Amino acid sequence: METVTLNGTTQTEQDSLIQKELRQKGEIPQHVAVIMDGNGRWAKSRGGVRIKGHHAGVESVRDTVEACAQLGVKHLTLYAFSTENWTRPQREVNALMTLLVQTIRSETKKLHENDIRLTAIGQLDRFPAKCRNQLAEAIRLTKGNSRMELCLALSYSGRWDITQATRKISEKVAKGQITPEAVTDELISTHLVTADKPDPDLIIRTSGEFRISNFLLWQLAYTEFYITKTYWPDFRRDELYKAIECFQGRERRFGKVSEQIVSNESEK
Ligand code: IPE
Ligand code: IPE
Ligand code: MG
Repeated sequence: METVTLNGTTQTEQDSLIQKELRQKGEIPQHVAVIMDGNGRWAKSRGGVRIKGHHAGVESVRDTVEACAQLGVKHLTLYAFSTENWTRPQREVNALMTLLVQTIRSETKKLHENDIRLTAIGQLDRFPAKCRNQLAEAIRLTKGNSRMELCLALSYSGRWDITQATRKISEKVAKGQITPEAVTDELISTHLVTADKPDPDLIIRTSGEFRISNFLLWQLAYTEFYITKTYWPDFRRDELYKAIECFQGRERRFGKVSEQIVSNESEK
């Protein structure tokens, strides 16, 4: 599939060329995670209410999803709502729920046509039934798609994820199904809600904040960070390309020394 038209436009020749160059220059991250931040400040800077920023952020999601799929990213995980975000003013939470339902409803068909699989991680049972049903329907429809996984982190927090994994493992130990010695790094990973995907290679945070805000705490152990001052509603594919280019320039040493990495590369 050459073009994805999630926003109703076809990919320009110049854009295809930029993507081709990016693929030739280096590795495309398999898994990209994004902390989509700065919607409220974006709206405020324009004299609007916070929810306007959330609405404007939908176009950034579209462009990012589209560009990632075209580039060959296999998993895109978007932090859409954290466990802590439930503590925001009720009006904002309600508006976000409405926006979530509307967006899933309007985007699912296009995701499906473009062979994109929608998934979700987090405490989904905390959402109103309308949200859960809309989400479940979209997940069911796109289940068999294989071009890219678009995973929404909803009422997600890294500590919650580690806690729920620990509970499941503890139950198995208590029932004598596994020994405490069987609890390894790998076993913990397979009990996290992200068990079916590789750890993110690249994480992008918009709006210039230098923090994880309880996102994928365990999974980000060796993820490369890219932080941009751009507010999420202004984020477009050009910035994604910059982040990937920056990622391609990094040396991922995983605790080793540079010489080991270079000699491994030459043995390939
Ligand atoms: C991110 O933007 C969206 C969500 C957390 C739901 P914010 O709403 O956090 O916007 P700022 O950071 O207050 O500007
Ligand atoms: C992180 O943003 C959560 C999402 C983007 C969904 P926040 O705006 O909630 O994070 P803090 O409060 O600035 O750390
Ligand atoms: Mg924020």
